[in-house]
Amino acid sequence: MNVHDSEKIAGILSGHGYEASSEVKDADMIVINTCSIRQKAEQKFLSELGRLKHFKDRNPNLKIAVAGCIAQLKGNDIFKRFPYVDFVFGPSNIDTLDRWINSRAQNTEHRTQIIDDRQHKTALQDNPEYHLKSIPSKREGQVRAWVSIMYGCDNFCSYCVVPYTRGREKSRPLDDVVNEVKRIAEQGFKEITLLGQNVNSYGNNLHKNIEFTDLLKAIHEIDGIERIRFVTSHPKDLSERLIAAMRDLPKMCEHMHLPLQAGSDKVLSLMNRGYTYKEYKGKVDALRASIPHIAITTDIITGFPGEADDDFKATLKALKEIEYDGIFAFKYSKRPDTSALSMPGHIEEKVKSHRLSQVLDLQSAITLRKNREVEGRTLEVLVEGQSDTDKDKLTGRTELCERAPSFPQSFEPALEVSNRGRE
Ligand code: 5AD
Ligand code: SF4
Repeated sequence: MNVHDSEKIAGILSGHGYEASSEVKDADMIVINTCSIRQKAEQKFLSELGRLKHFKDRNPNLKIAVAGCIAQLKGNDIFKRFPYVDFVFGPSNIDTLDRWINSRAQNTEHRTQIIDDRQHKTALQDNPEYHLKSIPSKREGQVRAWVSIMYGCDNFCSYCVVPYTRGREKSRPLDDVVNEVKRIAEQGFKEITLLGQNVNSYGNNLHKNIEFTDLLKAIHEIDGIERIRFVTSHPKDLSERLIAAMRDLPKMCEHMHLPLQAGSDKVLSLMNRGYTYKEYKGKVDALRASIPHIAITTDIITGFPGEADDDFKATLKALKEIEYDGIFAFKYSKRPDTSALSMPGHIEEKVKSHRLSQVLDLQSAITLRKNREVEGRTLEVLVEGQSDTDKDKLTGRTELCERAPSFPQSFEPALEVSNRGRE
């Protein structure tokens, strides 16, 4: 989602005639798009922003903007520590970048603060029409494209900062999404990934009686688009209708990312996830019954407050039972505003790490076994371009898995064990 937000930021900058510079020192404008899902991402951002002071000292005309979830959380505090930042805008205010660039001379609209005689501007306010705006994107590559279908989240999982940084859930109107996909198809893209924190509740705020499967059917009609994916599906809302649509619409990739988070019902309840392990497993069984070769991936958190040894063992048991095709696993990280922060039973860092490595070791063995099942089979691969690691090879994906085999180093999202859909 953040990477796609960066494409929107690039789209706006490109509309103002900016081009990407290959070296930071040559830039006239630097926008850092931040993530606050875990503390580690935040620390990386702070050190990166510190490094930029040097560039501003050398080029006082350089403009520095901070975007994304940390911008939303920290707001004006960013200027106190980093007075050389010019503009801070949150993830629901990406459209304001356009107005900020237009109005740098005669700004009236943004909140302004004067610190150290500089003008600092923020756009962190509620932006109730954000989901109705069509923001141009400058997309990476020419084959796969991301498309936002909804913003925000209403689920308030107790560990998660997203509802506080991205606000309440709002779906984009179906026609807006369809028109964007048509434009993307005209540009030659073949595969799209629909983005939302919980795609299963798409349409809840729309006046017409529309749900996610209606959107899938409408997109399925668009010529030129050959593969459709989506992330993320909340297990509590995964419906039989969606399973049937995935089974019946040939362009749907046979992959579902279905975050489990933990195997213990006690922990799931503390996390406010809204399902038990048994209910979750029932959905996995239903998916596999309808779509036998479906690839299923998940997210796991280790060391959530109150997670006892037996609770953790339930997570390991779940991994063995379900045999995911790939997982993303994270140590629980304390996030501001979230209710888990004040729960009793916070777990020691070294226990969280040990549990994480047990999860990853177990999954590595499962992943290897699953990869071996694919050995010798011929699968259709959508070629995306040259491989980063070997220029003599092409890289692409089967239709099974969405997640890239490895992220550019700078993202370092998590320790990842993912198998299918690789080069
Ligand atoms: N600590 C650890 N992992 C988290 N995630 C979200 N918030 C936290 C947190 N505070 C993970 C969840 C989610 C994924 C996107 O990030 O597993 O599904
Ligand atoms: Fe966070 Fe839960 Fe919403 Fe996902 S569904 S974004 S984990 S609050």
